[in-house]
Amino acid sequence: MRIYEAADYQGMSRRAANILSAHVILKPGCVLGLATGRTPVGAYRQLIEWYKKGDLSFSETRTVNLDEYRGLGPESPQSYRFFMQEHLFGHIDVRPENTYIPDGLAPDPDAECRRYNEVIRSLGGIDLQLLGIGRNGHIGFNEPGRAFELETHLATLSESTRAANARSFPAGADMPRQAFTMGIKSIMQARRILVAVSGADKAEIVRRAFTGPVVPGVPCSILQLHPDVTLVGDRAALAALRETGARICG
Ligand code: PGA
Repeated sequence: MRIYEAADYQGMSRRAANILSAHVILKPGCVLGLATGRTPVGAYRQLIEWYKKGDLSFSETRTVNLDEYRGLGPESPQSYRFFMQEHLFGHIDVRPENTYIPDGLAPDPDAECRRYNEVIRSLGGIDLQLLGIGRNGHIGFNEPGRAFELETHLATLSESTRAANARSFPAGADMPRQAFTMGIKSIMQARRILVAVSGADKAEIVRRAFTGPVVPGVPCSILQLHPDVTLVGDRAALAALRETGARICG
């Protein structure tokens, strides 16, 4: 595993964007696995800036997102389709038909999960999967305690995840209780994984993820078994990992 430390969120975002853009430049038709949440927003902003400068084109790039709330469609400002449109897709030249996200409104959840697995397979798998880590150790919506072997499935959100994500919903709104998510198996099949972390509230889970035992109670700990993981974090998020003596590049 490679670990890169930046001074702050902006530096971390720039480093993550560097790695994403390198993939797009070296293999324009690459399949990028993308994530939502606060963490990747700065990296997406940086990619948009480079695109606008003419340094980068996504015209052949394919994207598959990790997850989507069940019950929310693309018009809903809280849906992840809406998020991706607002924070990345709407500002670059990626073709809409090359961007894949589970359909939150799919009437038959099992069929939707099968369809999404087939999408990933038909694209030839994921070249680089970008991941954030939840404070409870989740990746995508794979909450603690779920089986490692799942592909795309319908997950029930933990109370801590609902509380953390409530900030994106209007006060008093009924937040979804379920979401479609790639499973740990889908994530582990990506050829490369890029984990981005920021802030002191992630420091402890980052330490447990990469130096603790590999257990379903800490879903992100499975990443220790992936052969090609790059972790980029700001100083605050990597502080506890650094204390364990982990080798960290500047
Ligand atoms: P965050 O979420 O980027 O908003 O911290 C990460 C996650 O929950 O996966």
